[in-house]
Amino acid sequence: MSERWTPESWRAKPVLQVPDYPDAKALADVEAQLATFPPLVFAGEARNLKKALARVAAGEAFLLQGGDCAESFAEHGANNIRDFFRVLLQMAVVLTYAGALPVVKVGRIAGQFAKPRSSPMETIDGVELPSYRGDIVNDIAFTAQSRTPDPQRQLMAYRQSAATLNLLRAFATGGFANLGSVHQWMLGFLKDSQQSRRYKELADRISDALNFMRACGLDLESHPELRATDIYTSHEALLLGYEQAFTRVDSTTGDWYATSGHMIWIGDRTRQLDHGHVEYFRGIKNPVGLKCGPSLKADELLRLIDVLNPDNEPGRLTLITRFGSDKVADHLPQLIRAVQREGRVVVWSCDPMHGNTISSNSGYKTRPFDRILSEVKSFFTIHAAEGTHAGGVHLEMTGQDVTECIGGARAITYENLSDRYHTVCDPRLNAEQSIDMAFLIAELLKQERGGKVKPMPVAAGL
Ligand code: PEP
Ligand code: CO
Repeated sequence: MSERWTPESWRAKPVLQVPDYPDAKALADVEAQLATFPPLVFAGEARNLKKALARVAAGEAFLLQGGDCAESFAEHGANNIRDFFRVLLQMAVVLTYAGALPVVKVGRIAGQFAKPRSSPMETIDGVELPSYRGDIVNDIAFTAQSRTPDPQRQLMAYRQSAATLNLLRAFATGGFANLGSVHQWMLGFLKDSQQSRRYKELADRISDALNFMRACGLDLESHPELRATDIYTSHEALLLGYEQAFTRVDSTTGDWYATSGHMIWIGDRTRQLDHGHVEYFRGIKNPVGLKCGPSLKADELLRLIDVLNPDNEPGRLTLITRFGSDKVADHLPQLIRAVQREGRVVVWSCDPMHGNTISSNSGYKTRPFDRILSEVKSFFTIHAAEGTHAGGVHLEMTGQDVTECIGGARAITYENLSDRYHTVCDPRLNAEQSIDMAFLIAELLKQERGGKVKPMPVAAGL
């Protein structure tokens, strides 16, 4: 690992999850073209996110990361982006209020296209075709032509990411995110639900507080913290050729940054120490994430930390744990203890989605809301027992009223799944389930802040 790093040194290592592009020259041409395109984010923004995450690592803030499992070309539109942003803002307000601490908002958005697959091929009715690997690689339709990886799709993914980020920036700073609009963030279809009543109560309290401050003579408009917000982008940096094309030197520091998103992470399937993904990540200065699943051993994690964060820089590394509600108690404590013993500074974040996926009889992949919540609860309980900060959550969610995860306040059933099952990959929490989840996490955060996360049987599974 001590060899010289370059943006392409990953190419000399084994790399998993690589699409089988039929035309190497066409791929190289696209990558060369991408390398001439403007970056999507600035290094300074990535550094700001790293500073914000350093506060999370210190127990002074909470990370809320969420968005689609996979963005798609078909779902690209202003309403989708707005509804997602609105729900994320609502969740952040709920968590900020309960925890009385800043919430760092990071979307799985504006670049979350490439998907790792458990099998390179998919067979339907005896026909075998390459698996769908996300819209940046191939098309989900089950035909030979659609499934053939096409490098031109990388150009479309870049353009979509740029347009998405442009609107997000406009929403974040152009008035939409003004805390004075806290009531208006409510989504139409939420209006008569229990969540919306709870949310309205909270929004009323915030409005009262703002009015009180105004009455005291404070000019709220002069406070950018109340008028605007920060939202950062993130994705799994799986497609390393694409990432390499957006790896640029920051002129102010001379350091290399991934400019395809503010934060990028390594998936659970591609985190081998001597492979290409870890090699790529070690050379860029962005804040990075590492997915930690049940097969990750504590000593292996420590070696990965050595490579990914050799200077023990706070905010550089977020460990996103995703074990499953029935496994988290068997795996998380030893990872925390190893990291603590070695004095490593990390952000601990809980992905309660990827260890809790099941298949319904009708063939839909789904996730029971209760299992998702159970893993989050265990995460808080275990951190409380170890004396560490339950730093954040990583959710697959959407602002739309989809029916992909079962359960929740409105109790989506297996039978409901076919109603509005729109995801191109994993099942997401819908808007209502997301806000519901935020209120439940808020309770846990409040208890953590008060030093009293209730002991519970963490291995209870459901
Ligand atoms: C994902 O986050 O969509 C994903 C594939 O996760 P993991 O790498 O943890 O399986
Ligand atoms: Co997923």
